[in-house]
Amino acid sequence: MSQTSLWWHDAVIYQVYPRSFADSDGDGMGDLPGITSHLADLRELGVDAVWLSPFYPSPQHDAGYDVADYRNVDPRFGTLADADRMIAEAHALGLKVVVDLVPNHTSSDHVWFQAALGAAPGSPERERYIFRDGKGPDGEQPPNGWRSTFGGPAWTRVPDGQWYLHLFDVTQPDLDWDNAEVRAEFLDILRFWLDRGVHGFRVDVAHGLVKDRDLADWDYPDQGPWVVPPEDNRPPMWDQEGVHDIYRAWREVLDSYGPDRMLVAEAWVQPVERITRYVRPDEMHQAFNFPYLFAHWTAADQRAVIEQSLATNATVGAITTWVLSNHDVLRHTTRLGYREPLKQLSGIGPGDPQPDAALGLRRARAATLLMLALPGSAYLYQGEELGLPDHTEIPDELRQDPTWERSGHTERGRDGCRVPIPWEADAPSYGFGPSDHSWLPQPASWAEYARDRQAGVPGSTLELYRDALRLRRSHSLGTGTLTWDSTGFAFRNGDVRVLTNFDGEPVALPVGAGVLLSSEPLDGDGRVPTDVTVWFTV
Ligand code: NOJ
Repeated sequence: MSQTSLWWHDAVIYQVYPRSFADSDGDGMGDLPGITSHLADLRELGVDAVWLSPFYPSPQHDAGYDVADYRNVDPRFGTLADADRMIAEAHALGLKVVVDLVPNHTSSDHVWFQAALGAAPGSPERERYIFRDGKGPDGEQPPNGWRSTFGGPAWTRVPDGQWYLHLFDVTQPDLDWDNAEVRAEFLDILRFWLDRGVHGFRVDVAHGLVKDRDLADWDYPDQGPWVVPPEDNRPPMWDQEGVHDIYRAWREVLDSYGPDRMLVAEAWVQPVERITRYVRPDEMHQAFNFPYLFAHWTAADQRAVIEQSLATNATVGAITTWVLSNHDVLRHTTRLGYREPLKQLSGIGPGDPQPDAALGLRRARAATLLMLALPGSAYLYQGEELGLPDHTEIPDELRQDPTWERSGHTERGRDGCRVPIPWEADAPSYGFGPSDHSWLPQPASWAEYARDRQAGVPGSTLELYRDALRLRRSHSLGTGTLTWDSTGFAFRNGDVRVLTNFDGEPVALPVGAGVLLSSEPLDGDGRVPTDVTVWFTV
C-alpha cells in the first residue's frame, strides 16, 4: 500500500440495516445498543468499516429513509448517547463508521414540512420544498406527469390547492436544492456527524437532488431512479448537472476534517461513464457500482463490467467499488438461484417461481470470492456472510415496504432482503433479540443459517468470508492491480491468481498451483467445478 493510501481506498464496508441487525430490548426492532454489542463480531469477521442505514427520528413510512430530524436518534433505535457509544466502541475496535444522509427529501413530519403546510403559497417556508400550482382551470391537475418511484403520481395536493413534489412516498416531500437555506442546513448536518466522529456518509439518491428548472414533462414509461433511458431522452428529475456543485461544497467540508472522511454516492445513473462524474477529484470519494451488482452470471458479462468499471473510474482517478447485495435489491444468493436472469429487482412472494437455494448459495459464494479479489473497496450487506437468501414467502398482509401499497399490490417491494438476521439457531427470533418478536417474520429455515451454526465450521459461508477477508488483507488485494489471463476467466492480482468457472467442464489449475481458498471443494482430480471461484498461487 502506498504512502498516500487511505482507509477507504481498499476498505470492506459492512452495511448494517439497524432494524434487522440486533434487537437489544425485545421489541422486535433492531437498535443501536444491539449493533454496539455485536461490533466485535464484525471486527472478527474482518471488515474495516460499518455503514448504517438511517436511525434518525422518523415515522418509518420508508424504513427510516423518511427523516424527521437529522440530528437525533429515533427512540425505537436508542438515543444520541447510544450513537456516541456505538461510534466510540467501533473506534476502539478499529472500525470506521459511515452514516446515511438523506438529502433529496425529508419526512412529512419534519418541522420544515409542517411549517410549509401551515404557511401560505409563495412563503419562505414553502420555498424549501417544491410546491407548485396545478394545471387545468382550477389547478386540479398536477403540475406535471412525473411518477413516484413507489407508484402513483409524484405530486400530492394540499388543502389550499397547491401541490408538492415527492419522487418517493407521499410522506417524503422533495427539498428544493436551489434554496440557500436547504444548502446551508445540510452543510451543518454534515458537520454535526463529523464532529461526532463518523468517517463518512452514504448519500441517498445522490442523483436526484436537483430537478430541471422548468419541471419539464417526461414521456417515459418507467420513471424510477434506476431506469436507463436513451442518451437523447435524459430524465428531467435525475442526474442533472447542478447536483455536482452541491457535492463540491460538501467535499470542502469533509476535506476540512482531513482526507480520511469520505462520501459514497447512491447514484443510479447510466451509462457507467456518468457515474464517474460523481467521483471527480473535487466531488465524492466513491459511488456504488450498481452495474456490477446487476451483471449476469456469465464470464463475458462479469469480465465486461469489471473491465469497464476499472477503466472508467481510472479516467477520473477514482476508487472502484464492488457490491452484490443491499437493502433495496434481492440478495445475491436469491438472484443467482434463478437460471434465467430476473427482470424485477425485488419482491418475490408466495406463488411466484421460487429460487433454487442450493444453486443460489453456490453461485453467491463464488461471486463473493470473485468480488473480494478485485482491487478497490467492497460493500457487504448484513447476513450475506451467512449465505442468507431473501425471505421469498412473506405473506402479503405482513409486507411493510410502501412499494406494495403504492403500486396497487403489483410490486411486492423490498421486505424479503430486510428480514432480521439469525445469530443463534436455538434462541427466540434466532438470537436477533431476547423475544420471539421480529418486525418481519423469519422463515423456519433461518436456523440453518444462524451464525452460531457456522462459526468455526470449516467450509461454512461465515468461515469462507472470514478467510477471504483475511487473505484479501494479507495479500493487499484491495490496493492491487488486476491483469487478465489470456484464456478463460482468470486474472492475477499481485501474487494471487483467481479463477472462476462459470459453466461447462471442470477446469484444471496450472501445474504447481497452491490453493489459498476455494468457494467449494475442488473435484477429485483437483479441478475447479462449475460455479466455483478459486484463489491460488503458483
Ligand atoms: C434509496 C434507499 O436505499 C431506499 O431504501 C429508499 O427507499 C430510497 N432511496 C428513498 O430514500
